[in-house]
Amino acid sequence: MPEDYTALIEELSREFRARNPRSAALDERARAVMVDGGNHGVRLSHPFPPRIASARGGRVTDLDGHSILDFWQGHFANILGNSPDVVAAALSGAVAGGDTLLQLGIPDELTVETAELLCPRLHTEKLRFTTSGTLATMYSIMLARAYTGRELVLKVGGGWQGSQPWGLVGYALHPGPEPWTLDSEGLPSSVEGEVEISRFNDPEDLAARFRDHGDRIACMIVEPVVGAGEFMFGRPEYLGLARELTERYGALLIFDEVVCGFRFRAGDVGSMYGLQPDLITVGKVIGGGMPVAAFGGRADVLDLCGRGGGNRVGASGGTYSAHPASLLAARTMVSHLIEHEDEVYPRLAVLGERLRHAIEDGFAAGGIPAYSSGAPLAGIPGSSLTAVHFVLDEDAGPESPHESNDPSCCDVALKDGVLQLALLLEGVYTLFGCFAVGTAHTEDDIDRVRDACEAVARRVAAHRRAGGPRVAVPGGASDPAPSAGGDTSQTG
Ligand SMILES: Cc1ncc(COP(=O)(O)O)c(C=O)c1O
Repeated sequence: MPEDYTALIEELSREFRARNPRSAALDERARAVMVDGGNHGVRLSHPFPPRIASARGGRVTDLDGHSILDFWQGHFANILGNSPDVVAAALSGAVAGGDTLLQLGIPDELTVETAELLCPRLHTEKLRFTTSGTLATMYSIMLARAYTGRELVLKVGGGWQGSQPWGLVGYALHPGPEPWTLDSEGLPSSVEGEVEISRFNDPEDLAARFRDHGDRIACMIVEPVVGAGEFMFGRPEYLGLARELTERYGALLIFDEVVCGFRFRAGDVGSMYGLQPDLITVGKVIGGGMPVAAFGGRADVLDLCGRGGGNRVGASGGTYSAHPASLLAARTMVSHLIEHEDEVYPRLAVLGERLRHAIEDGFAAGGIPAYSSGAPLAGIPGSSLTAVHFVLDEDAGPESPHESNDPSCCDVALKDGVLQLALLLEGVYTLFGCFAVGTAHTEDDIDRVRDACEAVARRVAAHRRAGGPRVAVPGGASDPAPSAGGDTSQTG
C-alpha cells in the first residue's frame, strides 16, 4: 500500500519556512498581486519557492543567502549554466551599441544568419522562429492538420508539448482504466475528440492506434527523449516504427525537440536515431536563455503558412517573434555549441554519467532504492539528463510516463510530493527530481548531490520506520499523499 508522506511534508515545510524568512515575505507580496504568487505552476513549489537573488553557472543564490546547486537550469535551457558569459557578453555589447537590439519587426540579417545556422543542424529545409515551444508545437500541429486534411493528433500520454489546445489533453496521467483526461477547462469542445493518446515506447500500442485510427491521424507528435515524462529515451525500434507507420498511413511525424534539441549534440537528436521527421520543434537550449523557439521541416509543409501555400495556416504573427535581442542570444549560443561541440557534449556525457551513479548510490546508501533514468543508448553516446524514480521492482526502470506515473511501479508520492523540497533543504534544486547537467557543473557538485540524496533517503527511511498512516486506495491505485511540489501538471 502506498506510503502517506503528510507528516514528512509538514516537517520539511516547517524547516523550510524557518530557513527562508525573506523568501517567505516576498512570497506573501507575490501572492497579493499574482495568481499563486507567480507565472508558471511548476515554479511555485510548496510551501513557497526560494526567491532568487542571483543565478550564475551551476548555482543560484536565494534571498536568504543560500547558495543552491541548480539542476533545473532555466527549465533545462541553460546548457552552459545560468547567465553564461558568452551570451551575456554578446548581449551587453549590443545593448551598449544601442542601435539594433530593441528594433522590432523590420527583418534583419541576424535572423537570416541564425536560421542558416539552424537549418542544416536540424535537418530542416525551412523554419520559422517563434517565442515559445508552445507556439512551435501548436503551429506544427496546425500545419500537419492542414497538410493532411485530417483532424486527429496522436501523442504520448504524459508527454508535455506546452499549453496549447492539443497539448492540454493527456498530459496528466492517472492510474485506472481511463489514464488520461482533458487537462484544462476552457478548451474548444472538439479538442478531446481530436487527440489520441498512446504509450511511449510501446510498439504494440502504437500499431494498434494506427490500425484503429490510421486514416484519421494527421500527425504523431513525440519527443525522441521524453522530457516531462522524466527523461526516458525512445527505443530505436519504437521511434523507427513511428516513422514507418506515419509514412504508411499518410500522417506527418513531428519530433518535439524543445528539450532534446542541441542537448545531445549541436543539432537535432532525431538524426542520431537515423530518423528524419516531417516537422521538428526546438526551443530552450537554442535561445541561450532568451525566449526563442522554432518550428521547421519540409518546405512543402512549411509553405502552407506562407504566400506560396496561400497562407492557409495562420502560423504567423507575433510582435516579439525573432526579437533581435533573443536572436542575438540564439545565434551566439548556437554558434558556440557548433564550434565547441567536441568539448561541450563529451563533458556533459561524463558529468551526466557521474550524476546518474551519484543519485543511485546516495539513495541506496540511505536505504531507499532509486533508479536514474536517462542513461544513453547505442548511437547516442552521452546524456546530461536524468530523473529519479523510486521503483518498486528494483530490476526494472520505467520506460514510459505511464509507468513512472503508476504507483504500482514507482513511489510516485515520494517523487512528486517530497523529493523536491527535501533536496532543496540539502541545497540541491531540481524539478521534481529531474536533473539537467550543464557545463558549469563540476565533479564536486555531483558529489554533493550524492550526499544530498543520501541525507534525503535517510530522512525518508526514518519517516517510514516511524510508520505514518498509509492511505488505502479504491481500486488498488493510490490517493496521492498531499504534495510538497507545485503544480505538477505542467513541466519545465
Ligand atoms: C517537449 C516540450 N515541448 C514544448 C514545450 C513548451 O515550450 P515553452 O515552455 O517554451 O512554451 C516544452 C516546455 O517545457 C517541452 O518540454
